[in-house]
Amino acid sequence: MEMNTIMVVGAGQMGAGIAQVCAQSGFNVLLNDMNENALEKGLSGIEKRLLRAVEKGKLTDQEKSDALERINGSTALEDAKTCDVVIEAIVEKIDVKTKVFQTLDEHAPPHAILATNTSALPITEIAAVTQRPEQVIGMHFMNPVPVMKLVEIIRGLQTSDETYAAIDQLTHALSKTPVEVNDSPGFVSNRVLMPMINEAIYTVYEGVATPEDVDTVMKLGMNHPMGPLTLADFIGLDTCLYIMEVLHDGFGDSKYRPCPLLRKYVHAGWLGKKSGRGFFQYED
Ligand code: CAA
Ligand code: NAD
Repeated sequence: MEMNTIMVVGAGQMGAGIAQVCAQSGFNVLLNDMNENALEKGLSGIEKRLLRAVEKGKLTDQEKSDALERINGSTALEDAKTCDVVIEAIVEKIDVKTKVFQTLDEHAPPHAILATNTSALPITEIAAVTQRPEQVIGMHFMNPVPVMKLVEIIRGLQTSDETYAAIDQLTHALSKTPVEVNDSPGFVSNRVLMPMINEAIYTVYEGVATPEDVDTVMKLGMNHPMGPLTLADFIGLDTCLYIMEVLHDGFGDSKYRPCPLLRKYVHAGWLGKKSGRGFFQYED
């Protein structure tokens, strides 16, 4: 399948990272967000990161300009009409995602593949709201996208082999490594990672140790590049909570119950790095 133009819906930390990697790999990119400020922030973040790569000698000035030229901003989902692939990276809520997929299905050309970067939600359920469930698939990038090599590729019940092959090929074209995973809550990555993060939050909630000390244990004791609470702040505490809820609802097992402290922080608007405060505080 020929792929020239990729639409990325959601210009937050994941969407902006995905758009950057697609543009650097030679694709035309439409970066969409319903919020104009978020779109501007996403676009300026890409420019800043590319500039830093030039300063470090990892990219030429020409490569930076070429990549930026390939990215256009959009605030209308109707723009999907010019795309071969859409990668959705909006908030981790099934009702919001299904609504967006219905709209994308109306506007994207018949050959287009609709992929979701969901962390944990059922691909089959998202696919079912469209008239093209065989062309809907999970394409789960890791954060930060420009750095992390893995993409989990998740087939929904009706995803076709052609769609799988096209997304596998796209993943390689983005210089990432695909791993095929079945459609199950949290897939592999978040079924393993998120209960560890939730447990780390419980140790703080129960007064076992401070956030700093929990992170030090995991960094120095287990050689993790980031402690679990720094990582939770980095992912976004809202996203962590929604993933735990998907695991809890999906498996019906109390071992996945989200820690009340996580819920409290999200209710307070302490979403981690993106809001300036989570388990730790951030200046910018
Ligand atoms: N965006 C883009 N690039 C970034 C970045 C960001 N937010 N943060 C760091 N980088 C880049 C730097 O520019 C640098 O690039 P170069 O080597 O080309 O110069 C490189 O990453 C290393 O950065 P630093 O030296 O500043 O920092 P570090 O060595 O501490 O590494 C890290 C930073 C790569 C983020 C590392 O701390 C790490 O691997 N952390 C764990 C990340 C992780 O577990 N991700 C998965 C999260 S779970 C998920 O994504 C799934 C989900 O559904 C929730
Ligand atoms: P984020 O909060 O940084 O960004 C989400 C963006 O989506 C916001 O800019 C918001 O304005 C936009 N948005 C919301 N509803 C929209 C709509 N209807 N149309 C267009 N734009 C809309 O979130 P994020 O961390 O980038 O996560 C996005 C998705 O990626 C989620 O499904 C999340 O689970 C998944 N994911 C996150 C991580 C992570 O570490 N944060 C890793 C892998 C996957």
